[in-house]
Amino acid sequence: MRPPWWPSWSLGHADSAWGRVAIVFTLLVGAVSFAGSGVTFAKLQELMTTRPVVFPGLPVAMSVVLLAAVAAGVAVVLGGSLSLAVLLLVLGLGAGILLVLPVGGADVPIVISLLNAFTGLAVAASGLVLGNVLLVVAGTLVGASGTILTRAMAAAMGRSVAGILFGAFRGGSTAGSTAVSERPVRSSSPEDVAVLLGYAQRVIIVPGYGLAVAQGQHTAAELALALEARGIEVDFAIHPVAGRMPGHMNVLLAEANVPYESLKEMGEINPEFKTTDVALVVGANDVVNPAAKTSSGSPIYGMPILEVSEARQVVFLKRSMRPGFAGIENDLLYEPQTSLLFGDAKESLAQVLGAVKAL
Ligand code: TAP
Repeated sequence: MRPPWWPSWSLGHADSAWGRVAIVFTLLVGAVSFAGSGVTFAKLQELMTTRPVVFPGLPVAMSVVLLAAVAAGVAVVLGGSLSLAVLLLVLGLGAGILLVLPVGGADVPIVISLLNAFTGLAVAASGLVLGNVLLVVAGTLVGASGTILTRAMAAAMGRSVAGILFGAFRGGSTAGSTAVSERPVRSSSPEDVAVLLGYAQRVIIVPGYGLAVAQGQHTAAELALALEARGIEVDFAIHPVAGRMPGHMNVLLAEANVPYESLKEMGEINPEFKTTDVALVVGANDVVNPAAKTSSGSPIYGMPILEVSEARQVVFLKRSMRPGFAGIENDLLYEPQTSLLFGDAKESLAQVLGAVKAL
């Protein structure tokens, strides 16, 4: 005999009208989340373009799919057949793909968080159908926490969730230019960078995705310690979507035992760039790209950025002139106060560290 706390797996509520409403909700929202997550996965893995995909008939296609899904959903509630439920599932998959395709660049993490919240709601609804309280509670918690995280991320990026999802449908193109220009840049040697850093009074290190790829966090922490030993004030500037997941940079730097008080959030550190001698940008790009403020057609337009361009000198550690995740060029790379040290971030940091120690 099953204990009283053991969940019941019967389809107890599926025969009532409300049970069928819950089934329709589960199928539709679950399918949207599944297909949408597949597309965001492909974007994150760069299996497809990370830029918004928009085509002329998109709003019409989305409206048709949604209307058909509503019609199929009503038919299922009114006692429709299994084939109608399968049709609803297919329409949900289509809606998920069409919903996420036009989202690109810096907005993708917000959509991932939103889809996560949707998944929770689908699980909660399936709990209602199955009469399983555990599923209802767990799903509601996932849905609620996902919703809070989505809103917090959207607010941190100066976006509304509706604007992110439906901006492209309203004709607000988020396309930018991927062409890498032929303008000259100032490249530096590790020794040049060491001199800049070693004789500064204030240095801010800006970590990004490339630091995680290079696994250079321990070397970055060592460099900060070496500079502090020379009496230089060093902080790490943390952008809320730097890297590829929420809190990515915090986790990375905590792993390297960077003291918590050295990690400064964007709102706190931005006013300090003005009085900073060197901003050392290690594998970050979109989160410091001034296009977010100046270029209204850019996929990252409106996203708050770390104001590194305010620093007296800016040094980028990256491997090439390739753009960041949003696929757009960063004009800051060509500014007169900017220099670039090309190479893998961990190796570059190690060379700079050696040169600082030799000063
Ligand atoms: P990105 O804009 O993606 O820039 C990363 C930079 O690191 C690139 O310029 C790349 O240039 C460089 N890089 C890569 N591997 C490197 C290596 N081994 N050594 C040195 N440099 C390396 O990163 P970001 O500034 O951190 O911005 C994050 C982006 O990801 C945003 O657009 C954000 O929306 C998106 N995103 C964020 C999240 C979350 S929640 N954090 C989730 C999904 C997507 P090279 O190739 O020339 O080296």
